[in-house]
Amino acid sequence: MTDRNQAKESPEKKAAGIYAASLVKSGDAVGLGTGSTVAYTIKELGRRVREENLDIVGVVTSYQSEAIAIEAGVPLTSLAETPRLTLAIDGADQFDENLFAIKGGGAAHTREKIVSMSADRFVVVSDPAKKAKTLSVFVPIEVMPFGKELVVKSLKELGGDPVLRAASKKDGPVITDNGNFVIDCAFGEIKNPAALATKLSQIPGVVEHGIFMNVDEVAIGNADGTVVVI
Ligand code: 5RP
Repeated sequence: MTDRNQAKESPEKKAAGIYAASLVKSGDAVGLGTGSTVAYTIKELGRRVREENLDIVGVVTSYQSEAIAIEAGVPLTSLAETPRLTLAIDGADQFDENLFAIKGGGAAHTREKIVSMSADRFVVVSDPAKKAKTLSVFVPIEVMPFGKELVVKSLKELGGDPVLRAASKKDGPVITDNGNFVIDCAFGEIKNPAALATKLSQIPGVVEHGIFMNVDEVAIGNADGTVVVI
């Protein structure tokens, strides 16, 4: 997985990430997503734990977020111990005005979907560039390595253009935290995300696709520090 912690400072992402941390209150169990935007949230939660005695537990969606949370001092638990979360906060690669979202740019969407579906409220944090009238970025699809060929064939039959994700041109496939591959599949403009999501879930070998239909709100940060919530 690419080290998205090293992404350069973004005032838009920072504004959204810090705003989302302000939604958390003592007693909450919080799903902690993956990526450079929610990293701001996790670090701010750590600051609030240290400086404001915020009493929370977090459930991480990746080893990357686990490392950030541990360094920030956010107490962690698991879904086994805390199966119901008050709130989940995560980034997205793109979202539309109906709050359909595409996630998985960090190859963590399977755990992100499990964690966000375990939460009473799911807040996406984003910069303005990810808002789209119609979803059109590639859909990340986590696949069992054994099923890769069948999945590629099935995605082509659905009109997609699948590419196995590699860390770089000379490296082998990206391996997810679950030991699987990721196929990034372009579909052009996705007019009906729900219908595509159903079709993708039906392909044997697909562990999880990156179309999310459970977003409750999106906090969009601006460079001046303001946040718009839709
Ligand atoms: C990881 C994700 C990320 O949340 C998504 O890629 C957005 O990342 P960033 O906040 O770095 O732009 O879905 O699987």
